[in-house]
Amino acid sequence: MRSNADGSSSPQRSLPAQQAGASHSNAASSDEQDDNVGPSLPAQPPQQRKARFVAVHGNYHHYYGTRSVADFQEDTRLKVMEKPWFQNKQCLDIGCNEGMITLALASHFGTASMLGVDIDRRLIGRASSHLAEQRSQASAELARASHARQSHAVASDGSGAQQRQASPNTRRRMASAAVQGLRGTFFQHGSFLELDLQAGAFDTITCFSVTKWIHLNGGDEALQALLAKVYTLLSPGGRFILEPQQWVSYRKAVRKPGVSAQLQRSLSSLQMRPEEMPQYLSDVLGFKLVRELNRSASGQGFDRPMYLFRKPLGA
Ligand SMILES: C[S@@+](CC[C@H](N)C(=O)[O-])C[C@H]1O[C@@H](n2cnc3c(N)ncnc32)[C@H](O)[C@@H]1O
Repeated sequence: MRSNADGSSSPQRSLPAQQAGASHSNAASSDEQDDNVGPSLPAQPPQQRKARFVAVHGNYHHYYGTRSVADFQEDTRLKVMEKPWFQNKQCLDIGCNEGMITLALASHFGTASMLGVDIDRRLIGRASSHLAEQRSQASAELARASHARQSHAVASDGSGAQQRQASPNTRRRMASAAVQGLRGTFFQHGSFLELDLQAGAFDTITCFSVTKWIHLNGGDEALQALLAKVYTLLSPGGRFILEPQQWVSYRKAVRKPGVSAQLQRSLSSLQMRPEEMPQYLSDVLGFKLVRELNRSASGQGFDRPMYLFRKPLGA
């Protein structure tokens, strides 16, 4: 199932022409923020204007700013993720960008395997570099944590210092989860819709801030194909964690300078609205909506909805 740690042997797909306009982001856990970050440039004569990269797939470079790891305390999406969904599970992250969220989930929870896929080859290259760095940091931390645990055990020497021993144990357990999770992590370049992945191979699939881009680039058909493919790839009882962008964010995306006329036309041809996705997943595909993840008991949520679905056990 897993291959292409560097994305090099994946089927190549050329991105649509991306000319002029500003689009890349500074740092975001929500790509709506990206929609607002294009620096406005002073008007220049055409010959001085540089062709600028436009992220028509939401393939923002520098999406996570200067962060080298995603922070479970800071990222509202990571905060609501739960261990049983990932620990020792076969996982897939669709539209992984530079892999920050992918790597955080794999290392924090100790996944059995984690595959991050993205349509942008350069982003997959960066994700693979982050993976190599984090693997070596995790191995070093595991060695340190094991050493600390041994010295602590010798130092405490049966003196009943249960409390003091807990910390090195926890540290070692965390380091061990990170080593395991990262050892089983791979990145693959390609459009998710075109990648050849094994049916039923995944226990948990995440899709954060990606649906708008697949919808805008491929229409209702592509969005529905994405959701149906997720269902096929999940094992019975498997979980799907979805963070769809809202309709208002589609409008912002096509207003960006440099976004192709094709994408602007596509908006008016869309029949399906992102707000209809939960019902489509349940009524048409047979998913069970477990709950909306970002609604607190007080009824207050984050700015963007996020859902947990399950594929029925008998499916
Ligand atoms: C806005 S970013 C979200 C990144 C990450 N999931 C997060 O929420 O932090 C959307 C990502 O989806 C990727 N993407 C868009 N269309 C895709 C497709 N058809 N297949 C795979 N990745 C895709 C983009 O390249 C981009 O990295």
